Amino acid sequence: MCRVASLLALVVLMSRAADALDNGLALKPTMGWLHWERFMCNIDCDKDPNNCISERLYMQMADVMAKEGWKEAGYEYVCIDDCWPSHQRDAQGRLQADPRRFPGGIKKLADYVHSKGLKLGIYADVGKNTCAGYPGSLGYYETDAQTFADWDVDLLKFDGCYMDWTLLGEGYVNMSKALNKTGRSILYSCEWPLYEWPFQKPNYTAIREACNHWRNFADVYDSWSSIKSILDWTASHQDVIVPSAGPGGWNDPDMLVIGNFGLSHAQQESQMALWAIMAAPLLVSNDPRDICPRSKELLQNRHIIAISQDPLGKQGYRTAKVDNFELWERPLSESRLAIAVLNMLEIGGPRGFFIGAVPGWKICDPLCNVTQILPQYKEMGVQTPQTKMVVSVNPSGTALLTVTPLQKPYWENTAERRKHTIL
Ligand code: GLA
Repeated sequence: MCRVASLLALVVLMSRAADALDNGLALKPTMGWLHWERFMCNIDCDKDPNNCISERLYMQMADVMAKEGWKEAGYEYVCIDDCWPSHQRDAQGRLQADPRRFPGGIKKLADYVHSKGLKLGIYADVGKNTCAGYPGSLGYYETDAQTFADWDVDLLKFDGCYMDWTLLGEGYVNMSKALNKTGRSILYSCEWPLYEWPFQKPNYTAIREACNHWRNFADVYDSWSSIKSILDWTASHQDVIVPSAGPGGWNDPDMLVIGNFGLSHAQQESQMALWAIMAAPLLVSNDPRDICPRSKELLQNRHIIAISQDPLGKQGYRTAKVDNFELWERPLSESRLAIAVLNMLEIGGPRGFFIGAVPGWKICDPLCNVTQILPQYKEMGVQTPQTKMVVSVNPSGTALLTVTPLQKPYWENTAERRKHTIL
């Protein structure tokens, strides 16, 4: 009896994510809009006034997000990326926005975004320069944190270019402390592990204690090969990264590129489904002023967003690769499970997948209720471990399902639980 109890305690301990950054933020994966993938470092406001990095862009984004269902769906942060500042700091050593492109300054922009019921994110870099060559924060962490707080900024994306890698950890931790010292709640988005992986295995316990989310892998591009490479990296490092995710701190596989140019609709569904399974921040980089209605509907799909934002806060992972299908599963609150079946074969038409072959299907013993969310919403009704259900999955598309056990799953009080709680 005693041995069973201590074994369970050990399992609970092992499965608990390490302590998160205690700033009360990112209790669920962050949702918002971030300019980089779509607008990059376009600073030519004379030639391209509608799309250049300027206060006008973020004001228009805030308008659209407040008006067209994004805010209601949960997208909250309007985030500036690189190329916003002037090349010179001011006489007091503070960062300043480029005066031509941000004539009102960041504080006024923050006020505007707040007036729409949204939050403002900004970008800086732990090293000497930002990746695009603007002033970095090295030597100015406290000054910059205070400047962002004075401007009423709500999120900081902190990049890792132009930094001696041996000082990365110290830099990221010091900025975390500097933000905390300002007394303002500023969500802290890091790229620490991405810049450390080429040299050594990052310490995810330390990262989780300092950051609200952290990029692990290369920048996302507007292409299916980019999405595949992110999924592959994530699956092949899942033993290391999945246990570190939980309320307050998340792995960040980079922006959603849904609604742009490079992904078919099936591929857009795959990105949305898998980002929800991975408990990833949902930071969209597209142009919501001009977006195809199907992509907008997908990004605002409340059933997928509910998976992303599930209160249990566990990251899902790849559980099998079978016959050119990938199976990903995410444990949800109330003993439910989300399943994604990804068809990796990029030729032919829709292929059927027998759902009873999903490793986590045991959760359906003795009975479960199944809802299909993608590619179409469909109540699949009560199923059993002997189900005959087959889902149809388009090439490079995903079938996304949730499974609700109708009685306690058989493993709840047995040693089998160990297998379900470790990852
Ligand atoms: C790096 C980051 C990107 C973006 C650019 C900006 O590449 O990983 O997300 O912020 O810098 O220069």
